[in-house]
Amino acid sequence: MSDSIVSDPSSFLVELFGLNNRVAIVTGAAGQLGGEYVRTLLSAGACVAAFDVNLDNPKSILSKINSKRLLTLEVDITDKKSVQRGLEEVLSHFGTLNILINNAAIDAPPNATDQETGPFETYPERSWQIMMDVNLKGMFICCQILGGYMASKCGGSIINISSIYGVLSPDQRIYAYRSIEKPFFKPVAYSVSKAGVLGLTKYLATYWASKNVRVNALILGGVFNNQDEIFIKNYSNKVPLGRMAWQYEYNGAILFLASDASSYMTGSALVIDGGYSAW
Ligand SMILES: NC(=O)c1ccc[n+]([C@@H]2O[C@H](COP(=O)([O-])OP(=O)(O)OC[C@H]3O[C@@H](n4cnc5c(N)ncnc54)[C@H](O)[C@@H]3O)[C@@H](O)[C@H]2O)c1
Repeated sequence: MSDSIVSDPSSFLVELFGLNNRVAIVTGAAGQLGGEYVRTLLSAGACVAAFDVNLDNPKSILSKINSKRLLTLEVDITDKKSVQRGLEEVLSHFGTLNILINNAAIDAPPNATDQETGPFETYPERSWQIMMDVNLKGMFICCQILGGYMASKCGGSIINISSIYGVLSPDQRIYAYRSIEKPFFKPVAYSVSKAGVLGLTKYLATYWASKNVRVNALILGGVFNNQDEIFIKNYSNKVPLGRMAWQYEYNGAILFLASDASSYMTGSALVIDGGYSAW
């Protein structure tokens, strides 16, 4: 490696961050951030399988990507059989699996009622269940089936997506302006599920260390997504860098954790939040 640094800096970087001959799965790939991760992994040379339960998501950029190394599959991560079928498709197309980005999640359900985003005291058990099913059970199933394959074959890298709300309580004051009569609260199940992601990450990092499967988490801050001006101002006031993240600002961390650049890293959580958690 040292020779290549001297003669050709770009080949040094390719060796460090390149993903040629690697196969990756991104869950929730039709969402705002999932599409970014797909683009990043393809650019680094990987073959990528994009899993999503809703491939018609209007946010999706998958149909705009023209690459023979992209396979798009309808997969529901809460359904073991669906994930197993997804793995079989990936293996028949690409022959192996080395990278898993567990990105799919829901926040408040898309059809959230006032009650579901209301006070903790009346937060419905059903909403708790739905969010736990996707954000935690779905990730558990993907680790079990997809990570299990990696552990039984060639090792690899698993990246579990958490949130600042998995390590810090949401400041409900930044949401309260929305309605005085029916106040909005960031749902408790989102925080608890994202905290659980960190537990799952540490558990599997040690469990699969001897199988050469590295398991790390990303703790992400809020991303610009057409929120209203008051929310953006309220949120940005809490961020030392003074703004929300652009959706492409997590791609570098994905590439780092997916590639050999992070070969000595497992059981860790990288915080990327514009400094939100620093004060
Ligand atoms: N956007 C943010 O501000 C932010 C901040 C911190 C953390 N995160 C985390 O980043 C990840 C991606 O967030 P996003 O903003 O891109 O979300 P998004 O809602 O845009 O995308 C999520 C995708 O997951 C898919 N999905 C939902 N349930 C599924 C299931 N059962 N099976 C398969 N796919 C399913 C959805 O169809 C959607 O396409 C999430 O884990 C989220 O918690 C996001």
